[in-house]
Amino acid sequence: MTQHGKIPFVDLGTLHRELEEELVTVFRSALRTAGFIGGPAVEGFERDFAQFCETQFCVGVNSGTDALRFALIAAGVQLGDIVLTVPFTFIATTEAISQAGARPDFVDINGRTFTMDPEKLRQYLETQCVPDEVTGRYVHKTLGRPVTAVVPVHLYGQMADMDPILELAAHYKLTVIEDACQAHGAESFSKKRNRWLKAGSIGRAAAFSFYPGKNLGACGEGGAVTTNDEELARKVAMLRDHGQSKKYYHDVEGYNGRLDSIQAGILRVKLRHLSRWNEQRRESARIYDELLAPLGGSVICPYKSSSSKSVYHLYVVRTQFRDELQKDLNEAGIGTGIHYPIPIHLQAAYASMGWKQGDFPESEEAADQILSLPMFPGLTADQQKQVTETISQFAISYAGR
Ligand SMILES: Cc1ncc(COP(=O)(O)O)c(C=O)c1O
Repeated sequence: MTQHGKIPFVDLGTLHRELEEELVTVFRSALRTAGFIGGPAVEGFERDFAQFCETQFCVGVNSGTDALRFALIAAGVQLGDIVLTVPFTFIATTEAISQAGARPDFVDINGRTFTMDPEKLRQYLETQCVPDEVTGRYVHKTLGRPVTAVVPVHLYGQMADMDPILELAAHYKLTVIEDACQAHGAESFSKKRNRWLKAGSIGRAAAFSFYPGKNLGACGEGGAVTTNDEELARKVAMLRDHGQSKKYYHDVEGYNGRLDSIQAGILRVKLRHLSRWNEQRRESARIYDELLAPLGGSVICPYKSSSSKSVYHLYVVRTQFRDELQKDLNEAGIGTGIHYPIPIHLQAAYASMGWKQGDFPESEEAADQILSLPMFPGLTADQQKQVTETISQFAISYAGR
């Protein structure tokens, strides 16, 4: 990767080379002890990650999808419930809701932050739900099902606007499960509690993914549930391990959803570097912001709020000429991504649900305009200059057409 060489979208190789000895030691130790499932590596990582997230408990699982599914089930989501989330997310959010037995329903995003719009959540709850006289829980007027939980997604490393979401959830008796799969270490300032809060520490529980490209990524699959609720943590620990409370005593039917010891050991090593890597991402975001500022409205940089500290899992710009720009960057050897091109309500997998184009306009417009630029710890200022110069040249030539 010379100054004018190819620039990947993500570079995990360099990061792993720096830690190679430590990572190989984890693998060697697992081989020698034959400790592949559970044990001190998993328990140690769970302790460290709970501390990092400022929660009392962390339960390691096999993926972010497992984490969300187990958290929802353990929080008491029942067959047929409605669980609210946003259509502008990765499909795992709604897969986990459906697989917990519930029906996903959507609240549109705020087009500036790309996260759940609390005003739209309020409108949904006020206009579409009524309290059930017997249970006191809120029921969807036309679907006739109880609305029991909400899953705000902290997309791209930026936390959803949690204060008003928590307030609405308390009023409407909704359980809040954070989808923090892209937000390891993100923070938001709670006016209500007058302090900064870490992603994963705010809802009843939260789900994290350790998919390799995440800010904290395994060398394989991994995930975790964080919570301050001991009973919920206990249930998640059972669900991940075939519902057993002790070996071969199965209290419920569960899943095979454990975090393996090699991944836990690797994550434990990498966790020690996470705050530094997140700072590097923030610095790279600042440089992009500065270099792209002259383009004004034609390429819009990520929104920055004074009450949110993003960890820039992705650095996503918005532009009307997204497809053409992506092609141009690609031809210049610069890797990009689109996260995500089709909002969930328009995915073929949900065709039978009756959602249509126009139902969630902010998500639909965002999906047409977003472009993720190279972002990873170790991205150099020279590389960023090359990316932004290519964008600037394109913007100038495109404006002249
Ligand atoms: C927002 C979001 N939710 C859930 C998941 C699921 O995580 P995993 O791939 O580890 O199952 C992801 C992973 O990409 C994600 O980005």
